[in-house]
Amino acid sequence: MNRRYRKTIIAGNWKMNKTLTETKAFAEEFKPMLGRPKWCEVVLCVPAVNLQAAIRMFKDSRVSIGAENCHYESSGAFTGEMSPEMLKDIGVKYVIIGHSERRQYYNETDFTVNKKVKAALEAGLRPIVCVGESLEQRELGVTIDLITYQVKCALAGVPAEKMRHVVFAYEPIWAIGTGKTATSAEAQEVCEAIRTVIRKLYGARMARAVTIQYGGSMNPKNAQELLAQPDVDGGLIGGAALKPDQLMDIVNAANQD
Ligand code: PGA
Repeated sequence: MNRRYRKTIIAGNWKMNKTLTETKAFAEEFKPMLGRPKWCEVVLCVPAVNLQAAIRMFKDSRVSIGAENCHYESSGAFTGEMSPEMLKDIGVKYVIIGHSERRQYYNETDFTVNKKVKAALEAGLRPIVCVGESLEQRELGVTIDLITYQVKCALAGVPAEKMRHVVFAYEPIWAIGTGKTATSAEAQEVCEAIRTVIRKLYGARMARAVTIQYGGSMNPKNAQELLAQPDVDGGLIGGAALKPDQLMDIVNAANQD
């Protein structure tokens, strides 16, 4: 983390978990734990069907609500989809784009990720753009090349004045939901590489200001060490974000002096 230059963001990614009833129970338990505002921003990305309720429940708290996906068009014949404008209109602030599960199961490509990033920014949402390598790619030694490519694709055509709203999440696919976490050195190396790409594209000042998270089996035990890395500015958290006490422990790790 480097709080002098950029925001630390701890974001939960609930994926396809929690009914409305469970969402309410989570909010009732989590809200009183939050205490007074500190440095770190807290985001909860929840299933679409629970977005409005979550926004209502976390009104008057320091938790922002995010969606887990969006379409790249603002309206039209796309059965089952949601546009960034629709999300913005109900009070959504963030949207996860290009999560590896969406790339794997729903044909999300670097090309659609780019279109979605631009559409989200245009609508006034903050995209959390996920990039990450598979185990095979890591073993082939192409991690940094691949991440550089993914970041460049995601940002193609994104104007400098919109860039400060973009958040990146480095999520090695082999670490997601597996209990295997990247070492802090591995997380730092890739997050630093992402910042290098941003520096080349947008200059040093912008690169310094962009929040880059790590995601992949982050939990209360490993959060502090990961967040101590200079280029790891937060976490995108799946499993541990489903439990209020675990998520709070990670928020506390991010808020340490
Ligand atoms: P995990 O998921 O924390 O359960 O590994 C992270 C993510 O997929 O964003």
